[in-house]
Amino acid sequence: MSPLRRGTGLWAEGVFQPVMKRAIYPGSFDPVTNGHLDIVQRAASVFDEVIVAVALNIGKDPMFTIEERMEMLRDACAHIPKVRIEAFTGLLVRYAEEHKANVIVKGLRALSDFEFEFEMALMNRRLDEGIETVFMMTNAEYSYLSSSIVKEVALLGGSVEGLVPKIVEKYLSTKLRSSSPSVDAGGSSRSGLRRRPK
Ligand code: PNS
Repeated sequence: MSPLRRGTGLWAEGVFQPVMKRAIYPGSFDPVTNGHLDIVQRAASVFDEVIVAVALNIGKDPMFTIEERMEMLRDACAHIPKVRIEAFTGLLVRYAEEHKANVIVKGLRALSDFEFEFEMALMNRRLDEGIETVFMMTNAEYSYLSSSIVKEVALLGGSVEGLVPKIVEKYLSTKLRSSSPSVDAGGSSRSGLRRRPK
């Protein structure tokens, strides 16, 4: 019989303690897309708890405030158990340490995401070896999807139905109705690092 089976062998002697796996899924979520939701769902099926951590300072001006981004996420994730939505600022690994999270989840859409994510994962590991970055592949259906492309299509009057949660469609149309023509869809080069738009 396997010594790892609960109630037997080493489990029975209390040698192995089940470790709570709390993961952090960080991002700008400006706004959340169905691609992000796909990753939240995958992460929630693997980890005991998932904190969706919304970055407060994201370089260039976001279209949505932190409260709006969190509100859209709360609504869109309401049906997924074990998921919390929080804001964070500063170093991601410090935030993970404070919240006793041992895993950072990142979504990969295509190979072109990899180089930038690889750099960040190695830097985060250098900052804290105890926190593991786990990459999850998005559904192929969403491999071209980004918040930036969604904003651009919406700004130019195209339909984003099926690409974002319903609440985001509402927020986008409200924002576009109330905004001046100078509202920017957001670009891909806010940090100067090589990356695909998010
Ligand atoms: O959705 P995004 O824009 O790809 O999210 C990027 C984010 C917020 C996950 C990333 O910029 C980040 O981790 N910021 C926190 C700052 C930090 O820890 N930097 C050092 C790691 S490279």
